[in-house]
Amino acid sequence: MASTSDIHASINELRRRLNDASHRYHVLDDPDLPDIEYDAMLRELESLEAAHPEYADPNSPTRRIGDAPSGRFEQVAHAVPMLSLSNAFSDEEVADFVARIDKETGDAAPVFSVEPKLDGLAISLRYENGTFVRGSTRGDGATGEDVSANLRTIRSIPLTLRGDAPNVLEVRGEVYMPRVGFEAYNARARDTGEKPMANPRNGAAGSLRQLDSRISARRPLAFYAYALGETDSTLPATHSQVLAWLRELGFAVSPLVDVATGVEGLLAYYSRIGAARDDLPYDIDGVVYKLDRIDQQRAMGFVSRAPRWAIAHKFPAQEATTTVESIEVNVGRTGAVTPWVLMAPVHVGGVTVTRATLHNADQIARLDVRVGDSVIVRRAGDVIPEVVRVIEERRPLDAAGQPLHPPYTLPSHCPDCGSAVEREEAEVVARCTGGLVCPAQRKQALIHFASRRAIDIDGLGERFIEALVDFGYVHGIADLYRLGVDDFIDMKRRADEAAGTVPETVKAGKIATKWAENLVAAIEASRTTTLERLLFALGIRDVGESTAKTLARYFGALAPLMAADEEQLKQVPDVGPIVAARIGHFFAEPHNREAIAALQAAGMYWPEGAPQRSADGPLAGKTVVLTGGLSAMSRDEAGAKLEALGAKVAGSVSKKTSLVVAGEAAGSKLVKAQELGIETWDEAALLAFLADHAS
Ligand code: IVH
Repeated sequence: MASTSDIHASINELRRRLNDASHRYHVLDDPDLPDIEYDAMLRELESLEAAHPEYADPNSPTRRIGDAPSGRFEQVAHAVPMLSLSNAFSDEEVADFVARIDKETGDAAPVFSVEPKLDGLAISLRYENGTFVRGSTRGDGATGEDVSANLRTIRSIPLTLRGDAPNVLEVRGEVYMPRVGFEAYNARARDTGEKPMANPRNGAAGSLRQLDSRISARRPLAFYAYALGETDSTLPATHSQVLAWLRELGFAVSPLVDVATGVEGLLAYYSRIGAARDDLPYDIDGVVYKLDRIDQQRAMGFVSRAPRWAIAHKFPAQEATTTVESIEVNVGRTGAVTPWVLMAPVHVGGVTVTRATLHNADQIARLDVRVGDSVIVRRAGDVIPEVVRVIEERRPLDAAGQPLHPPYTLPSHCPDCGSAVEREEAEVVARCTGGLVCPAQRKQALIHFASRRAIDIDGLGERFIEALVDFGYVHGIADLYRLGVDDFIDMKRRADEAAGTVPETVKAGKIATKWAENLVAAIEASRTTTLERLLFALGIRDVGESTAKTLARYFGALAPLMAADEEQLKQVPDVGPIVAARIGHFFAEPHNREAIAALQAAGMYWPEGAPQRSADGPLAGKTVVLTGGLSAMSRDEAGAKLEALGAKVAGSVSKKTSLVVAGEAAGSKLVKAQELGIETWDEAALLAFLADHAS
């Protein structure tokens, strides 16, 4: 039986090891203990603490999960006021700041600690004899709120200091929410219908204001230290040494802190961090320059609430407010229909923007953006500006107090070609169905049409197709069959001129002629093709080479395929309801029918024949579903054999299913088959049937 002092020693040892592991994980970003071992140790500590409440400690690693709600936050007076920073928005303002410091310190080249300006919430942490006693918000700088319970849940805040800690130490820094955590939180909030956070800064602030710290514990927060408050310790000579000391005590300090001198040094740091800004795992809104020598800081002193020895050099804001003038769509090369807003010009992210993306119909529904709305737009780095949120309170209303404009819906027809715009249930992207005829998709459609596995026009690569379209030689696919040698030479000359290269036609007329003749011959050769190549070349969504082949065999000719309705198409092996609908819609589109007619008129030819269906096999007209594992062959192989005997193999059981083959561990499909009274076979029955009908 362990003595109580042994137990206390074990508890302390477990706490020490858990704190060490947590410091390595959350502060040094260099974990050395596998998660399961950490969890096992934590559980051991929990059970010891439960059995020995006399050794309870609010700073135990077991307490990071938060506590029951407190009624309200107590006020905390800051022994040393929490200051803010003056801002600089231009290089000149930075130069003025440095000149002032040069002059007043008499130092020709004063050293600065240079740091990222984290976009979170300033916090003060108080430690007595190496243990965390209290943490508070900045408040008005003189008095803040005690949010200790919430701060205890932040893993990168040490609850026990490492090494020789002073009797009293207040550490200031920023609580922030890393972007991944913010995104993950919002994704979940959207799923559960909760209110998403506007940005990581609001996320951090809102999380710290929770009266129930168990909620804060679930929020992904982190902390970086950047300054001291009250302490009875003698201080190092420079701020950078203070930061190094804080690291030793177990605090996380931004790895981006550095030292610099002179205006050029500061501006170089500003550019370096600005360039890295979008790739950082958290938001920053500028950099901070702090005079490094503490004695020089003291000599400079303060004005109003800000030190005269430091300045924040701000980056251009990445978010701004403006109003929506209209909503339009853009059709991409793959037919994807992307909605945009046109807005009153606004300065954001360092440039003036007038357009922002709405991504897709889901995003429109989620944001409910309407014409006339005030919106917050965001532009980070080189990415396309996007609408973050609508300021609903400012939505224009009519005399009856109703919104002036209805919710926006995507157009039902493509603005570029007039073909139907469709969106499948499970998809976020809406698409123009006019693949072959839509100008926006023309290049892509032609490139696919001419490619080796499709119609195979030797030598007609992407670059030339783009030029043919750009210079207006080709509108639809059939136009390819009208091109002559002169057209190609002409096109090449114009393309070379446009690219600023010496026209090869001028340099070597003969070579160009030969090249053009070869292309014309390749196009001529492609005039005779096969139905399956043609079907693949048409670029019907989800009709790949193998489906094209099956369709070609099943129908034998183009006309009956074009005439087939979706029910008939679903009878084709491997064609499910989605693909059947796509094929049906493609051929229903008048533009597509015209394009095919134009191909035929241009002399394109493919042999046609009788349908090849196993219609007379023993399983003709039967729909079979395979489920569970088979031992003698794969399900695909079994499916192919059944199809060869005339069956249609389907993926799910319905009233139309004629037979279910249930292998090992068959589940819900077998249950459903039994419920519907559908005939079922086991693997032995299948093998016997296949053996009987082996050809
Ligand atoms: S030092 C005595 N350093 O910026 C100087 N502040 O605009 C006190 N901030 O309230 C602040 N990163 O919330 C300092 N590296 C950094 C900072 C930083 C972000 C915030 C802090 C402060 C605000 C002032």
